[in-house]
Amino acid sequence: MEEFKVTPWNVEGEVDYEKLIKQFGVKKLDVSLLKRFEKIVGELHVFLRRGVFFAHRDFDKIIDDLENGKRIYLYTGRGPSGPMHIGHILPFYFTKWLQDKLDVNVYIQITDDEKFLVKKKLSIGDMDKYSMDNILDIAAVGFDPDKTFIFRDTEYIKNMYRLAIRLARKITLSTFKAVFGFENSSNVGIVFYPVLQMIPCFFEKNRVLIPAAIDQDPYWRIQRDLAESFGYLKSTQIHAKFLPSLLGPAGKMSASKPESAIFLSDDPETVKKKIFKYAFSGGQPTVELHRKLGGNPDIDVSFQWLYMFFEPDDKKIKKIEEGYRSGKLLTGELKQVLIDKLSEFLEEHQKRRKKIENKINKFMYDGKLASEMWSKTF
Ligand code: TYM
Repeated sequence: MEEFKVTPWNVEGEVDYEKLIKQFGVKKLDVSLLKRFEKIVGELHVFLRRGVFFAHRDFDKIIDDLENGKRIYLYTGRGPSGPMHIGHILPFYFTKWLQDKLDVNVYIQITDDEKFLVKKKLSIGDMDKYSMDNILDIAAVGFDPDKTFIFRDTEYIKNMYRLAIRLARKITLSTFKAVFGFENSSNVGIVFYPVLQMIPCFFEKNRVLIPAAIDQDPYWRIQRDLAESFGYLKSTQIHAKFLPSLLGPAGKMSASKPESAIFLSDDPETVKKKIFKYAFSGGQPTVELHRKLGGNPDIDVSFQWLYMFFEPDDKKIKKIEEGYRSGKLLTGELKQVLIDKLSEFLEEHQKRRKKIENKINKFMYDGKLASEMWSKTF
């Protein structure tokens, strides 16, 4: 198998998730943990049933806390480098589901600073534009406005900076080089930045659970090393796989390659065009061969998207899988199933985004949790 590499800023090659679990030193999310969690929340989200969230750090401690009636909180985030695609929003839909089930606070960090520092072509104006655009998409997911705080680093920095310097003094350059791969040519801003992504792990004395894709794991390792010496709990994580690029299983979706991704703002025509033209297929080259040999859902991106996200009904997905494998269901027909599901999902999302447009201040400044947060310094 080809080599792969996963860092917070880059994913290359076809990811071998079993190997990654070992490389990162995280644990597999196993059936016994999922059963305990199901007992608490009553059902398992499709992302849990189908192994989209597949690994963790100390998720068992979160379950212990919940079983013992202790409060926990959720933290996740987004680096606004461009319009959001369907992969970026996946952890947010899961976080909202967790908030609904557990009735807990959610903190959402918008790392406008990070993306400005990393993306050479991004101007300060772009940073502002994408921050506000992305915040609308995140709010459209449907979080509880009184229990959710969405903040931009460049605005909330005053409240975080005192803790940031306390942490920073304990971290050496060689640690950050080893964990994040910084080099002498890295700009000094991005070398400091990871300290800020750790700060929301200290927003409450309760234990924090972070739902994100596994690329974000390096930050949490360092927070976990430092937490207890600051009188806080180690952060805990539940890690997702990447929703594959439309072009195939190797690499991530990217805004610089619009044909690799479906964006939250895409209209039904665009969705249809992209899926028919670009979605990597596990079908045979001709209808005759497909009927005879069947397709391969394991490598088919349309099937993977349905399996991971857009067809939560277990009976329906099984029927689709069997149909495709046997050759009864053709590639065009499979693509059409995804197009219908995806268009419906996007239409609902876009409607909610329109509705929330003038209610953003509640999440950012004057909802219950937001106003509490502006009166605190860490
Ligand atoms: P960003 O903006 O790169 O990504 C936002 C979130 O989406 C996840 N993600 C994906 N999930 C599934 N499939 C994909 N193809 C896919 N691509 C990206 C990311 O793991 C992330 O959860 N530095 C962060 C922002 C951040 C953050 C956090 C993220 C700050 N604090 C706490 C998670 C948790 C970033 O640039 O994410």
